[in-house]
Amino acid sequence: MYKTLLLATLLATSTAQAADGQALATAQGIAHPAVIAHRGASFDAPESTTPAYLLARELGADYLEMDLQRTRDGVLVVVHDDVLARTSDVAERYPERKASPVSAFTLAELKALDAGSWFNKAYPERARAAFKQQRILTLDEVIDIAEGNPARHPGLYIETKEPAQFPGIEQDLKKRLEARGWLDKPGRVILQTFDRNSLKLLHEAMPQVPKILLLWVAKGSIEPASGQDFSESGEQDKSAFYARQQPKDRAEFERWLDYAKADGAIGTGPSAVRTHLGEQSYSDLIQPWMNQASHAKGLLVHVYTLDAAVDYDKAMKAGVDGIFTNRAGELMRFYGRPVPQNEGQLLRKLGY
Ligand code: G3P
Ligand code: CA
Repeated sequence: MYKTLLLATLLATSTAQAADGQALATAQGIAHPAVIAHRGASFDAPESTTPAYLLARELGADYLEMDLQRTRDGVLVVVHDDVLARTSDVAERYPERKASPVSAFTLAELKALDAGSWFNKAYPERARAAFKQQRILTLDEVIDIAEGNPARHPGLYIETKEPAQFPGIEQDLKKRLEARGWLDKPGRVILQTFDRNSLKLLHEAMPQVPKILLLWVAKGSIEPASGQDFSESGEQDKSAFYARQQPKDRAEFERWLDYAKADGAIGTGPSAVRTHLGEQSYSDLIQPWMNQASHAKGLLVHVYTLDAAVDYDKAMKAGVDGIFTNRAGELMRFYGRPVPQNEGQLLRKLGY
């Protein structure tokens, strides 16, 4: 009897929570649960390049996720890292500038880089000859991709990356989105940032556009219970370190939810631990109480970045409203949504 009651209570709680998140998303014109293609379909193609975004679009992802930076000559470009060494041949082409930030290069200089061959070397089992010599993309080029198939309508999920390096980037972004007609489309653009100041500036520039405050456990962000950052810990394994980190206490976590609301966000983007740890596995900020607290404050929850069914399942059961994933096709299949062809077939059809 007790077990039956407990089960009924748990089911009711989880259903009520899902309904809350769904209502919050629907009110903003946001898909629920959302498939957010992290740097494009970046498991199957070099991150943030044309094949990655084309594949994400063709798979039916709700949003193309991207990290926004600005070139020395003022063009908005889509690159994740502060420096270019991991995802390009900068060390060969500009050896003396291999540790320079993206902001030190003109667009023409960035366009001379090969942003695809690194993927073939890092992931030989997923390598394709046509990935060689892929180019870094501008924001406008990603918008072209989003608009490029009348049968597919992915939205844009744009992060201001290291915004303190790029004063005025929030206004620059507004100008481009306005010029391209994307500010009149409710829920088609979501803006995201880890930086509270950038969130405020995004909100001032584009009050009507939904915004997400990304959450992270570290000193200066959500304060860790351990009082330590990775660099001070003496640990070798980053993901094992992050997996042990948790907010100092419940009040600290809730303080960040309050910051999100106060600064204009409609939701949060918390990190998560992957079952198998590794790259892109961070701290567990999607415990059910955390998602309940977010929903109770009227905030949506989009978790980053999960790629395996076991983790999609855990996240959905914990009550999130959408998932950043490098494997948009896997998440679509997990949700039971139609995928026209598999990733290999689609890449071939797209010419890769
Ligand atoms: O934007 C959500 C997620 O992408 C945050 O992490 O480092 O992959 O940009 P990162
Ligand atoms: Ca990002």
